Amino acid sequence: MTRAVINLVKLSHLSTRTRYRLLFTCFILTTTHLLFSASLIRWSANLTKPAHADPRSASKTSGNAFSKDHVSPYGAEDAGRPVVPQAKLLKDFFTWNETDIASLSPPVFLPPTPPSPPITDPFPLLSSNLAPHKLRRLLQPPEINHPSHFRHLHPSLFSSQELTQQPSRSYFSRFGGRSFGRRPDPSPSSPYHCKLNPTGMAPLLIGFTRNWPLLLQCVSSYIAAGWPAEEIFVVENTGTMDANERELLTLQNPFFMNRTQLGMLGVNVVSTPTLLTFSQLQNFFAWTALQRGWTEYFWSHQDVIVFSYEHRHPSTSSKTFEDDEPEEYRSLYANALHTLQQYRDPSHPKWAHHFFSYDHLTLVHRDAILSVGGWDTHIPFYGTDCDMYTRLMWAGYAQNESTTPTTRVGHILDVSTVLDDVGALFRIPGIKASFPGDPDPHARKQKAKAGSAAAAAAAAKTGAETYANLLSTARRMQRAKYALGNGHEGRNKSWQVKQQGGQGEPFYRDADGFEAGVEMWIEAGRAVFSEKWGHRGCDIARKWATGENKGNGNGLKDGWRVERDWDADKEGGGGIGGGW
Ligand SMILES: *[C@@H]1O[C@H](CO)[C@@H](O)[C@H](O)[C@H]1NC(C)=O
Ligand SMILES: *[C@@H]1O[C@H](CO)[C@@H](O)[C@H](O)[C@H]1NC(C)=O
Ligand SMILES: *[C@@H]1O[C@H](CO)[C@@H](O)[C@H](O)[C@H]1NC(C)=O
Ligand SMILES: *[C@@H]1O[C@H](CO)[C@@H](O)[C@H](O)[C@H]1NC(C)=O
Repeated sequence: MTRAVINLVKLSHLSTRTRYRLLFTCFILTTTHLLFSASLIRWSANLTKPAHADPRSASKTSGNAFSKDHVSPYGAEDAGRPVVPQAKLLKDFFTWNETDIASLSPPVFLPPTPPSPPITDPFPLLSSNLAPHKLRRLLQPPEINHPSHFRHLHPSLFSSQELTQQPSRSYFSRFGGRSFGRRPDPSPSSPYHCKLNPTGMAPLLIGFTRNWPLLLQCVSSYIAAGWPAEEIFVVENTGTMDANERELLTLQNPFFMNRTQLGMLGVNVVSTPTLLTFSQLQNFFAWTALQRGWTEYFWSHQDVIVFSYEHRHPSTSSKTFEDDEPEEYRSLYANALHTLQQYRDPSHPKWAHHFFSYDHLTLVHRDAILSVGGWDTHIPFYGTDCDMYTRLMWAGYAQNESTTPTTRVGHILDVSTVLDDVGALFRIPGIKASFPGDPDPHARKQKAKAGSAAAAAAAAKTGAETYANLLSTARRMQRAKYALGNGHEGRNKSWQVKQQGGQGEPFYRDADGFEAGVEMWIEAGRAVFSEKWGHRGCDIARKWATGENKGNGNGLKDGWRVERDWDADKEGGGGIGGGW
């Protein structure tokens, strides 16, 4: 019996021709089986997917539970219920007598604000029907800013061991406990990058409340300057819950944000649960870092446009050295990582912040923030930075600023206007750098003539905007912002109230009213600061450096325990005057 089986297996009793036939039949059968299995797997995968993956098409075609839950406006479920008349509701709520009512004056309305012109789509390419793979190719940083180009910088420093992900130290681990809900970061993508940050991330957080075009411009400029899109986190702080996710807001609404387009760029979106003030948002950043195991993170204002020092690259023919710039070429991202690396050296003194251009771009050491109790949320906007930075200084943390050529990471320009087409930042062929209200729109052409012939020829060939034109245009944008005065107080703040629409949309707020409320809150916050430190103005460190502890002042424990150094009756409240 055994022998018969062995003989059958060996097929030795069959002719060669029959053996080949058998082999061929086996091959056909196996292939058919594989194909069948594959289609079976595909079919079953489709079964688990909802019938309509695209929520918008779903809302048009069918009314199933999934699509309805996803896109219908808030309160739509109640649309069919009867409505109690207003007069009846009033009677149920209040009791009054008619003589009282007669003496009251009805509301008098303010003259309507003149409507501002509607804003236009800042990046039309993202709404075009271009195939995703073509789009992805266009949305890349210029070749020289690609992260993989920086591996050569420290070739001796990276080893295969550093490629593996290492757990970051958690704040809670100091207490012997474990961090709650901490998620591992995606595995690092490039060795250079990994060497510099063991968590595999150099997260850049960009808070967003108003003005979508400005945000899109800011994010795009960071990507074009080499910051990997997957390490950029837009923190949606619009106070509109999930309205943007559900696409219920439109472009003219100040709080509009298009998640689909941010996804096309490859950046992440994190949402605050409700509208946070500046100081609350800073604490939310630190909390997010705790959740995700980031020991350090960068944060940026949304009203900046950034550039790498591209004209320093050896391959760039139009190399023009400015005396305030570093010698070797690194992208803005590589420079930022280089700075981070210095702070990670265990011999570096205790540190909390590094400011790259004031606080337009800031590197934060999470646990320093946590160790002093975080930001004081009773001071919602201006003044809260003075409170925080001074307390950190008193607690012995270094907070350095990039002021020298070797510590600057790139051009960080403070702007309030947006390029006519943000696509210019990606050097997409055919898109030129220009902005509405450019005081000197012809500067571009003159610059191009002055530039080297080789650069001009290269630009003509691809039809893409040049670095020199982009930078000079952005510089004119910065000048326009500061045209009406210098510094934060005198600057033209109008970017915050450019969009005036969104009437009738969920969570609608009057654009000017929102701004007025914030202004009042700023003043109230200054008043809180003044009462806390007994002084109207940011310069409290100087005050503590005088007197007994001359030169070694430390007011960490003195908040709310000092007398006012001004006369509130004669000189006014804490939110105005003095050093504000
Ligand atoms: C109605 O209000 C007026 C003025 O406050 C008061 O004099 C009068 O007695 C009130 N009448 C009734 C019926 O409560
Ligand atoms: C967001 O952008 C996508 C892609 O361009 C577009 O299809 C969609 O309509 C936009 N959403 C809104 C609410 O404007
Ligand atoms: C930051 O400043 C301190 C001195 O205040 C200095 O010792 C340290 O080297 C600086 N670090 C960086 C990265 O510039
Ligand atoms: C800002 O500039 C615009 C024109 O660019 C001007 O109309 C507006 O009044 C300015 N706003 C302030 C607050 O000065």
